[in-house]
Amino acid sequence: MTSVLITGATSGIGRQLAIDYATRGWNVIACGRNKDVLTELSEKFANIDSCDFDVTDRMQTVNTLRTLPWIPSLWILNAGNCEYIDNGKMDAKLVERVFQTNVFGLTNIIEAIEPHLMSGQRVAIVSSIASELALPRAEAYGASKAAAGYIARSLRLDWRERGVEVSTIFPGFVDTPLTAKNTFSMPMLITVEQASKAIQNGLDKGLANIYFPKRFTWILRALGALPYSWQHAITGLLFKS
Ligand SMILES: NC(=O)c1ccc[n+]([C@@H]2O[C@H](COP(=O)([O-])OP(=O)(O)OC[C@H]3O[C@@H](n4cnc5c(N)ncnc54)[C@H](OP(=O)(O)O)[C@@H]3O)[C@@H](O)[C@H]2O)c1
Repeated sequence: MTSVLITGATSGIGRQLAIDYATRGWNVIACGRNKDVLTELSEKFANIDSCDFDVTDRMQTVNTLRTLPWIPSLWILNAGNCEYIDNGKMDAKLVERVFQTNVFGLTNIIEAIEPHLMSGQRVAIVSSIASELALPRAEAYGASKAAAGYIARSLRLDWRERGVEVSTIFPGFVDTPLTAKNTFSMPMLITVEQASKAIQNGLDKGLANIYFPKRFTWILRALGALPYSWQHAITGLLFKS
C-alpha cells in the first residue's frame, strides 16, 4: 500500500499521520474543514492532495468523496471531536453534537467511500480506549467511540468476502488540541509523533486492532474485562470526574 486518505488531517493525530506518510513517500489525500492547514500541507508536500468537507454534512461528504484525484489503498477515518458531560447533568445537545461527528459523520464517510472500495484495500477506523470501559463524564464521547468500534468490527465481517480489511484503532491519551482542553490528569499521555508511529506500525503489520500506548490500554482493557461491579468500584477510585 502506498496511498492513503486521512480524515481529520488538519490537526493532532491525523495531521501527524499525513506528514509521516508523505515523508515516507506515500501519496496522501488530507481531509478536514480547515482550508488554511490543508493548503499549508499541500504546499509543503508535493505528494499531499486535499479535500475539504464537513463530515456531518452527508451530501457534502458524498459529493466531495465521489470524485477523488486518485483512489487510495488505505483509508484512515480519524475525524472526531470530544465533549464531556459536567456534574452528571445530561446535555442532549452536547450528545447530539458528539454523535453527529463521531458516529453519523463516520457513517457519512463510509457510505461515501464505499463505491471506491475494492479487494486489497484497508479501512482503519479511529475509536478510543475509552470505548472499552465506562469512564466518568464520557457518556457522550465514550458511547460514540463504542459505536465507532462496533461499526468497524461489523464492517470487518461484512467486507471480508470483498477482500477489504478493516482495522480498529484504540488510542489512549494523546497530546493534541482535542485533549489540551482537558482539566483532569491524563495518565501515560503520549505525543502525536508516538501515536502516528504506533498507528503506522499496526497498519503496516495488517493488525485488526491497534492499541496504544501498550501499558495504559492493556490496563484499561483488563479493567474492562472485569464484572461491572468491580469496574465501577475501581474506575470510581482511579478516574475522578
Ligand atoms: N487525542 C486523544 O487523546 C485521543 C484518544 C482517543 C481517540 N482519539 C480520536 O482520535 C481522532 C483524532 O483526534 P485528535 O486528538 O487528533 O483531535 P484534533 O486535534 O481535535 O483533530 C480532530 C480532527 O478532526 C477533524 N474534524 C472534526 N470535526 C470535523 C467535521 N465536522 N468535519 C470534518 N472534519 C472534522 C478536524 O478537522 P477540521 O477542524 O479542519 O474540520 C481535525 O482535523 C478523533 O477521532 C479522536 O476521538 C483521540
